[in-house]
Amino acid sequence: MKGASGTPAASQQPAAAPAAQLLLSLLLLPALSQAATQTSSNAPYGAYLGCFSLSRLLYMRGVEGKEGKQFTADTIRQCMPDCKYNGYSLSIITPAYRCWCAISMPDVQAQLPEAACAASSELGAAVFYHHEFAGKQKCRLEALPLTPDTVQLSSGSSATFNAPARSLTLGLLGSSSVSQAAVKGSSMLYGQVEVTAMVNAAMDGFNTAFDLQSSSSSCSTSAAVPSKSGDRISFQFLTGGSPPVANSVLLGSATRGAVMGEALIKPGDYQKRLNLGWGSRTNNTFIEYTISWQSSRVTYAMEGVPLATRKAGQEVKWTDASGKQLSAIFASPSQPASVHFSVWSSQAIQQQQQQQQQQQPAMLPNGLPALSQFTGLKRIVCDQAVSAAARQHRSVRGPPWLYVGQSWDASDGFDDAGEDILAASSSNGSDGLDDSGLLTSSNEHKL
Ligand SMILES: *[C@@H]1O[C@H](CO)[C@@H](O)[C@H](O)[C@H]1NC(C)=O
Ligand SMILES: *[C@@H]1O[C@H](CO)[C@@H](O)[C@H](O)[C@H]1NC(C)=O
Repeated sequence: MKGASGTPAASQQPAAAPAAQLLLSLLLLPALSQAATQTSSNAPYGAYLGCFSLSRLLYMRGVEGKEGKQFTADTIRQCMPDCKYNGYSLSIITPAYRCWCAISMPDVQAQLPEAACAASSELGAAVFYHHEFAGKQKCRLEALPLTPDTVQLSSGSSATFNAPARSLTLGLLGSSSVSQAAVKGSSMLYGQVEVTAMVNAAMDGFNTAFDLQSSSSSCSTSAAVPSKSGDRISFQFLTGGSPPVANSVLLGSATRGAVMGEALIKPGDYQKRLNLGWGSRTNNTFIEYTISWQSSRVTYAMEGVPLATRKAGQEVKWTDASGKQLSAIFASPSQPASVHFSVWSSQAIQQQQQQQQQQQPAMLPNGLPALSQFTGLKRIVCDQAVSAAARQHRSVRGPPWLYVGQSWDASDGFDDAGEDILAASSSNGSDGLDDSGLLTSSNEHKL
């Protein structure tokens, strides 16, 4: 498979916006900033997930430094915009006004009683998710165990479960060319999902995927494109690029059946970005994969490191599997979607289609069946409406020390200055994303 590398687009200077894109941005902007304004007036920090053990938060992947960034009561509102600017979806704030950014989700068990986030406490930190409808919807963190009861397998799928680890192993056995697992009760509209996986994508034509798919999207894995009206946000593990490189990762999405861009990350690229050893690949290392999904953006992260953000209205350019140059004006998926895992052999699918023959099990060169393991599935789901009366409640806004001494903490609501993220990021002209939507790393290495 030829790669859909972001390299050519990533190194270009941003060109003058085509008229159509400009028009679209003009049409979108008022609606988007209005939504952000409404949100920020009630939830300036995002959606409160709760008080968590600070020491355990600091062990999370991608969280840098033990000291954090020091703010004051008057400036702490800058923590969330700083995190968001760098592609992170979570802010961690202590009562001493220290701030860290994360995209990895904390362990559900790391949550503490609210008293641990009292003004004088050093045990806990308030954690916020940058949900665009934070003032109107409550978000919660939830583990989704992978068990025979919670996972629905499509016919012909081969799966085994490890009960203590609540993990799933998907493979191809018998005559099957596809194994698919849908996680029951995982349907959601916006939020975040994360899984730790060691997958197989070493053999030519053997692929694995972890994705959020709308129910209208057929669970077909043989193409990156879901059915006509389907939405999908995916990590695909495949042998990609030209020449093909085993254990490559393809970030993709589709909205109402239209592909919204792809980015191929080869092992050399993710090893560098994630500080993995040169021998570490997706097929021999458990790696954490995160998707943060909002109406204005989709962010992909590995090992707690944000790798790419697609923003609504942005032009995305990529090269597809056949080498064709494509572009799209990014629109975020907007239909409820649930978590799916799949493994498939494109060779076996092809052969079955051509010969209508039963296939041998897909084997790795060493003779073992091709297996992909998934564990630690969790999500942030924002499915509880907040009544006007509950908006000032601690469980929605977070601890009261976040609101002391700030001029915008008036009883009639907050002044929006500095909190309207969309306005802030468009007004200073740069938000850390190049025109392909890939975050550039500090060492100038671009994906
Ligand atoms: C733009 O705003 C972000 C978020 O406040 C800030 O971190 C960044 O440094 C600003 N960039 C410029 C070029 O001023
Ligand atoms: C992982 O992929 C490499 C190719 O990149 C292959 O040589 C190796 O055998 C695979 N290892 C496992 C454990 O599947």
